[in-house]
Amino acid sequence: MDHQAHHTIAPLFVRVTHWLNALAVIVMIMSGLKIYNASPIFDFLFPRELTVGGWLGGALLWHFAFMWLLVVNGLIYLTLNFYTGRAWKKFFPISPKELIKDVLDTLKGKLAHEDLSKYNTIQKLAYLSVILDIVILIASGLAIWKSVQFPILRDLMGGFDNARVVHFAAMSFAVFFILVHLLMVALVPRTLLIMTRGK
Ligand code: HEM
Repeated sequence: MDHQAHHTIAPLFVRVTHWLNALAVIVMIMSGLKIYNASPIFDFLFPRELTVGGWLGGALLWHFAFMWLLVVNGLIYLTLNFYTGRAWKKFFPISPKELIKDVLDTLKGKLAHEDLSKYNTIQKLAYLSVILDIVILIASGLAIWKSVQFPILRDLMGGFDNARVVHFAAMSFAVFFILVHLLMVALVPRTLLIMTRGK
């Protein structure tokens, strides 16, 4: 327990990139909903209150501005995580046995949180899946934006129209992650200190 109070758990680069990413993701989602409303692919629209940009043109400008923050910040986060070796320490190994134990402990309401310097298996999987999800969001977004320039990427996404469906599905997963993520932070608020002052 004691070492937690003295040593940095989340390095500065993780904290800075985490909050810039949160800002970028939220603006991307809210402006994206406005773009969706202008040309919906399903038979529903999103309430104005959830959207950013005012109108289609405005929302596109927000989306295209913040995509650079999302991509550049994400590359910095990934590069430093791999370069420093942090990624291997924090997110691996992932053991099926530990996963089953963590899931059972969660269902019993007994998942331990004494050592906040280590992620449990559910956290590891949740964080890795949202990182992969953002990669899919960016790839499908690129296929929609530069469909003609990236024909292989477009085909990988199942064509232009399907790329929009992939983009929407990946956005939905991000929203789901954020809701659960915020609930978890509310349940273990001390983690918020780690992600702000680092320990
Ligand atoms: C806007 C409100 C948000 C809050 C209050 C928040 C809070 C936190 C906190 C407290 C942690 C540390 C958890 C721990 O140490 O156990 C964390 C980690 C993390 N969050 Fe968030 N978060 C937010 C948004 C997001 C968004 C939008 C994403 C991505 C879509 C995200 C992805 C992550 C990831 C991947 C980690 C692990 C990072 C690492 O260790 O490298 N968060 N968040």
